[in-house]
Amino acid sequence: MKKNVIYICTFLLVGFILMSFNNHFKSESYQDVSEDGFKNLKILPKDISKDSLMSLMKGYNQALGVKCNHCHTMNKASDEKHEKEIARHMIKFTNALNANEFAPIGEKYKNAIECATCHRGSTKPMDDTRAFMSLKEEKK
Ligand code: HEC
Ligand code: HEC
Repeated sequence: MKKNVIYICTFLLVGFILMSFNNHFKSESYQDVSEDGFKNLKILPKDISKDSLMSLMKGYNQALGVKCNHCHTMNKASDEKHEKEIARHMIKFTNALNANEFAPIGEKYKNAIECATCHRGSTKPMDDTRAFMSLKEEKK
C-alpha cells in the first residue's frame, strides 16, 4: 500500500516536471517571434507586424495553390529553398509594377497587380498561358 502511494507520487511529480518543460519551450519559441521580430527579411519591411506578415504569407499560399513548405523549410528564416528566393524577386517586381506603372494611372490602380493576377492558384502560370494560346499543340 505504501509502495503504491510512492509510485503514484513519483508518477505525478515526473508528469509535472515534463509539463513545465513543455510550457517553458512553448513560451520561449513564441517570444522569439513576437519580441525579436523576423530575422531574415530582405524585401518586406523589417518592422512588419506578425499579423500583416502572416496574411501576406497566406495570400501567397492561396495565389500559388501551395502550402508554406513550397517556399520554406521548418525554419522560416532559412533561405534553403530556391522558391523563396524566386518569391523575393516576384514580391519586388509586383511592388515596383504597382508603384511605377499603376499608381500613376490613378488611386484605385495602386494595388492592381497581385500574385494571383498571374498565378491564379498555380505555380506555373506560363503553362496556363501556353495552354490558353494553344502553343503546345503547334509545337508538336
Ligand atoms: C511563395 C513563397 C512563400 C510561401 C508560400 C510562404 N512564404 Fe513565408 N516567406 C517568403 C519569403 C520570400 C519571405 C522573406 C521575405 C523577405 O525577404 O522580405 C518569407 C518570410 C517568412 C517569415 C519570416 C521569417 C524570418 O524570420 O525572416 C515567416 C515567419 C514566414 N515567411 C512564414 C510563412 C508561413 C507560416 C507560410 C504559410 C502560411 C509562408 N510563410 C508561406 C515566401 C513564402
Ligand atoms: C506578371 C505576372 C506575375 C506576377 C504578378 C507574379 N508572378 Fe510569380 N511567376 C510568374 C511566372 C511567369 C513564373 C514562372 C512560372 C512558370 O514556369 O510557369 C512565376 C514563378 C513563380 C515562382 C516559382 C514557381 C515554382 O515553380 O515553384 C514563385 C515562388 C512565384 N512566382 C511567386 C510569386 C509571388 C509570391 C508573387 C506575388 C508577390 C508572384 N509570384 C507574382 C509570373 C508572375
